Amino acid sequence: MRLTPEEDQMLAGKFGRATQKAMEILVALGTIYGAERMLPVASVQVSGVSYDNLGEAGLEFLDEMAENGGRARVLTTLNPAGMDVENWPALGIDAEFARNQERILAAYAKMGVVTTCSCTPYLFGNLPRFGEHVAWAESSAVCFANAVLGARTNREGGPSALAAALTGRTPDYGLHRDQNRRPTLTVQVQTQPQGTRDFGALGVALGRAIEARQSKDIPYLRGIRRASLEELKSFCASLATYGGLALFHMEGVTPESGLHAPPDETLTLSRADLDSAIEALNAAAGEADFVSLGCPHLSLAEIQRLAERLAGRRVRKTFWITTSRPVKRLADQMGYTAVIEASGAVFAVDTCCVVAPIQGRFKTLVTDSAKACYYAAAKNGFATRFLPFDEVIEEALR
Ligand code: F3S
Repeated sequence: MRLTPEEDQMLAGKFGRATQKAMEILVALGTIYGAERMLPVASVQVSGVSYDNLGEAGLEFLDEMAENGGRARVLTTLNPAGMDVENWPALGIDAEFARNQERILAAYAKMGVVTTCSCTPYLFGNLPRFGEHVAWAESSAVCFANAVLGARTNREGGPSALAAALTGRTPDYGLHRDQNRRPTLTVQVQTQPQGTRDFGALGVALGRAIEARQSKDIPYLRGIRRASLEELKSFCASLATYGGLALFHMEGVTPESGLHAPPDETLTLSRADLDSAIEALNAAAGEADFVSLGCPHLSLAEIQRLAERLAGRRVRKTFWITTSRPVKRLADQMGYTAVIEASGAVFAVDTCCVVAPIQGRFKTLVTDSAKACYYAAAKNGFATRFLPFDEVIEEALR
């Protein structure tokens, strides 16, 4: 790889051991993927935050980087942690886990990382512009950054994202390059999805179809007339989970769609395909005991809607509302939090029903998120019910 003089100095240790180690990680990655140079990044989103995923080895790595002078050179935010630092006892998190989670956040803070923890950093200021290079890690956020914002990122792992933060660089390969962003498959959608659950179901159907092709397709979706921010974040989470995709184009909706012609090869998805994706995730029989909205983390508009529907009512099940700290602060300011908490629902801020350590605590999750359904079953062994946003709320009240 050709490095700039400053990058060479980082590699030689002139900026300290942590920066050197970070540059070593990036050079190794770039060499593996045939990158010829580094790119400056505008921002970073780091995964590997929950103690549930990181464990002691991960915590030691972070401590070492922080102790060795690692400091973020660009705006860097974190993926959800294993608990809400302000509200963990109410969520049933044990004290030892909380202590370890706080050690992780302290190590990130020492490195100058913004320690609000969210998969929707674009809702509170980590918002790259069209064409900007970034290094993000969480799969739904990566897909949103590439497809919806038109920014450019590979799906980073925890160490490579941290390395990008400490150097302000990422190797130039994969989705940073024009030729790897072209669509390869047209997807004709014969129905207009409505709401977050429908868009999640579209992600399931498309993700599974692409997995079955055993290809690395970049789909070009046609036929969808409109999609809100909330519907797109749901679609991104689902497509990344069920198909491993980090980029799509949606005609008339996403910014790069106008740069490309639809590929000749075409896949068709119908209302029946969405319905069968819904049915497969909606199989739980019997009483649900856990309800959650906020995968990906809720927007302020979603919290407003939730407050309107919960006003003056009482929930009868454990109901987690997951969002980022900055969005929660806005909800506080607008009075939505007070209304929601008066209903008995609880905010689980900067965490979520997937990364929190809740295995064995519940039997059946009700949610509007296809991604949450996937991990509820795969990680926690819960049965799932996959309902539209408003029906999820009604289920909590039942
Ligand atoms: Fe975000 Fe957790 Fe879902 S990280 S996308 S809320 S699984």
